[in-house]
Amino acid sequence: MRHLLSLADFSKKEILEILEIAKNLKTEFKKGFYSKPLENKILGMIFEKNSTRTRVSFESGIYQLGGCGIFLSSNDTQLSRGEPIKDTARVLSSMVDLIMMRTSDHARLEEFAHYSKVPLINGLSDDFHPTQLLADYLTMQECGKDKDPVVAYIGDGNNMAHSWLMLASKMGFTLKIASPKGYEVKNEIYQKALEFAKISGAKISLMQDPKEAIKDADVVTTDTWASMGQEDEKKERIKAFSGYCVDSELLALSKKDSIFLHCLPAYRGQEVSEEVLEGTQSKIFLEAENRLHAQKGAMVWLHQNR
Ligand code: CP
Ligand code: NVA
Repeated sequence: MRHLLSLADFSKKEILEILEIAKNLKTEFKKGFYSKPLENKILGMIFEKNSTRTRVSFESGIYQLGGCGIFLSSNDTQLSRGEPIKDTARVLSSMVDLIMMRTSDHARLEEFAHYSKVPLINGLSDDFHPTQLLADYLTMQECGKDKDPVVAYIGDGNNMAHSWLMLASKMGFTLKIASPKGYEVKNEIYQKALEFAKISGAKISLMQDPKEAIKDADVVTTDTWASMGQEDEKKERIKAFSGYCVDSELLALSKKDSIFLHCLPAYRGQEVSEEVLEGTQSKIFLEAENRLHAQKGAMVWLHQNR
């Protein structure tokens, strides 16, 4: 049984296969035609954290594929009353064909996957956000930035930074991550990326200086300084990340035709300036739209390879 908890579990070939399906489905979508490869299939969607894009893209996506989505807020299920993950996993997976789960601790996803009889998709955990990165790579492909690109990630060593490490190390491109001291990526995930990079030829480096990271980059990206669950640290984080805002001055150090990506939601004036977010290099809304298509590709691929 294949699950999508992190891109670490996927080969370059498999990632490209998912995106090939996504592109075909996007072409159909643009023509207003739906071939419904998941007719009558049910997707269960467990949300233990808030969401706009992930929820709507999965729910619209499964409908467009011919199936149906069930939104399960943790507040309304027995999970919040303490029903064990292993029981929930066995019950739900006897009733639906695919499950997507957004949670905090990545170990909850691993436990769920262990007991699930159907493919489980990580809709974001504190460690990884793999479906976002499928959409990000699709956006890079569409913008002609997938041939040996140099990607600069400026900011927190969080789930997005970890996911970029997995994508770069699988696809074999250059990734430079600049984070302030104390907010670096997890060492075990970095080490894993270095192992994958030995095979793919990816060049991965960590640094503190955002100017060094962004120099000559083809793709520039960042994420919020305080992720969901870190709201109490907001004040100290804003202080620690001073100098890490992707503004026009910083972006000017990247290649002239570089693109700017952000998974959203964005905090204007913090990790990115209004000018960059709304500027011509920003591809954030194409990136957000591509969540729909990339995830449809992932759902079809997982169903075909279950
Ligand atoms: N990028 C992303 O996952 O957005 P949501 O939190 O709105 O789902
Ligand atoms: N790092 C952010 C991503 C939101 C899509 C968070 O985990 O809140």
